[in-house]
Amino acid sequence: MPESSVDARYSEAAKEYEAGLCCPVEYDPSFLSVIPSEVLERDYGCGDPTQLVRPGDTVLDLGSGGGKVCFIVAQIVGAKGRSIGVDANDDMLALANNALPSVVEKLGYNNIEFRKGRIEDLTLDRVWLDDYLKKNPVTTEQDFLTLQSEIAKQGTERPLVAANSVDVVISNCVLNLVRHDKKLDVMQEVYRVLRRGGRVIISDIVSDEDVPEEMQRDELLWSDCVSGAIREDRWLASFAEAGLYGVTVVKRDEEPWKVINGIEFRSVTVAAYKGKEGACWDHHQAVIYKGPFKRVEDDDDHIFERGMRMAVCEKTFNILRREPYLENFEFIEPNIPVKASEARPFDCSTPLLRSPEETKYGRKPGITAEAAAPAVSVSSSNLADSKESVKVKKVYIFEQACCGPSPSQGLVDFLHKKFAGDIELELFNMGNVKGALPMPKELMVKIQNEGAGCLPAIVVDNVVVSEGRVPNFLEAVEMVQTGKPSANPRPAPAPAQSSSSGCCG
Ligand SMILES: C[S@@+](CC[C@H](N)C(=O)[O-])C[C@H]1O[C@@H](n2cnc3c(N)ncnc32)[C@H](O)[C@@H]1O
Repeated sequence: MPESSVDARYSEAAKEYEAGLCCPVEYDPSFLSVIPSEVLERDYGCGDPTQLVRPGDTVLDLGSGGGKVCFIVAQIVGAKGRSIGVDANDDMLALANNALPSVVEKLGYNNIEFRKGRIEDLTLDRVWLDDYLKKNPVTTEQDFLTLQSEIAKQGTERPLVAANSVDVVISNCVLNLVRHDKKLDVMQEVYRVLRRGGRVIISDIVSDEDVPEEMQRDELLWSDCVSGAIREDRWLASFAEAGLYGVTVVKRDEEPWKVINGIEFRSVTVAAYKGKEGACWDHHQAVIYKGPFKRVEDDDDHIFERGMRMAVCEKTFNILRREPYLENFEFIEPNIPVKASEARPFDCSTPLLRSPEETKYGRKPGITAEAAAPAVSVSSSNLADSKESVKVKKVYIFEQACCGPSPSQGLVDFLHKKFAGDIELELFNMGNVKGALPMPKELMVKIQNEGAGCLPAIVVDNVVVSEGRVPNFLEAVEMVQTGKPSANPRPAPAPAQSSSSGCCG
């Protein structure tokens, strides 16, 4: 879909109100009195994306049109915050800029500005580009190459919106107008400009089914905010694809705005957050998911079982203590805080249970080290380094509570010899568990629901490869090598080993 047809449509809509371009939205009336009627009349939004805006925030509105939402935001953030609108259309920018002095006068401060840019590339200042093209018309290939290199230079040295500079990105009924092959670019730009801990909240028109190409080719239907709509589930996925977390549907209109060829088009407002990346350090913290679901999974692949004391790294602990997760968890700190200089890297890739002993009595030397970071030698400063160094397979054997000799000890000794430094091998006796257990979720749940009949269990790189018996040596070698259950399970255990799954019951 050519951008020019969208541009022409919104130039007209900036000059004269067009009824078909908006769906009715209720804004907080207390914010509307300072906004001139010519702006309020040209409301082409489909939702209210201001819910996550707080006093003092720097807010960026993508596709700000006549400026209405920017003028509302300016009042929420107050004189210490900033409200920045970006739009590609000169007539929309003129409408917003013409209204600006009267809004500023009524507010008594100026924290608002409008910039010209395309939201799929927020590095490029289009006022600079217009100016450059006036002075340097492109008529040869050399001109074109020079232009490209000037654009790259400008975007790096003087980006329209700098990286990590914005607390909240908002947008109201714009993404559907962007070409499909550029929609993910917009989400990536959102991620780039947001500060760590920043939020994005977007109201847009989405479809319940894919829009057929024939409808997408209809330029009028596209600029009507209809046929460029992305399918609802794909849109939500694109937030996570861009690296954001906590993706939440804030509002979803039950009634479709339009139904065309049986496809429902409705307004949906979605929020997400930035800041899940970074190293994981163990400060002996745990969280308990309160329900109502049996288990949930976050955008960083952590799994939380309802009611279970899940070990988490400090970063995850702090993320869960903020919106949108806060209400869903109980938070358990260790009695003796772990100093940053003493914290060990934490492996977030495996669900771990935190022993109550750690949080009740503080860290006992070795407890977490044995359970959560077995045999990995870690440089003190950087988790990325430590992850690099873990090229060996992790093999864990979990045994039922056992007061005598371990039934798996023969196998453990054999595997140690056979694989030497190629595996990290740990044997866990469930009778004297003292810390976080590197146990896959499915095994944890099975033990919780069905008891210890599935023990002993062997886990290779977080995959349960054997349950309920001690396999013979050949099978065990095969399972460690393939990381899968044996293709030829032998019913009888090797003579030197015990087939018992425990000794205390
Ligand atoms: C439906 S109107 C919404 C305007 C405003 N957000 C509101 O709530 O009234 C869409 C706006 O997005 C702008 N727009 C469309 N595509 C854009 C793009 N790729 N980059 C920047 N602005 C764009 C249009 O110029 C227009 O002002």
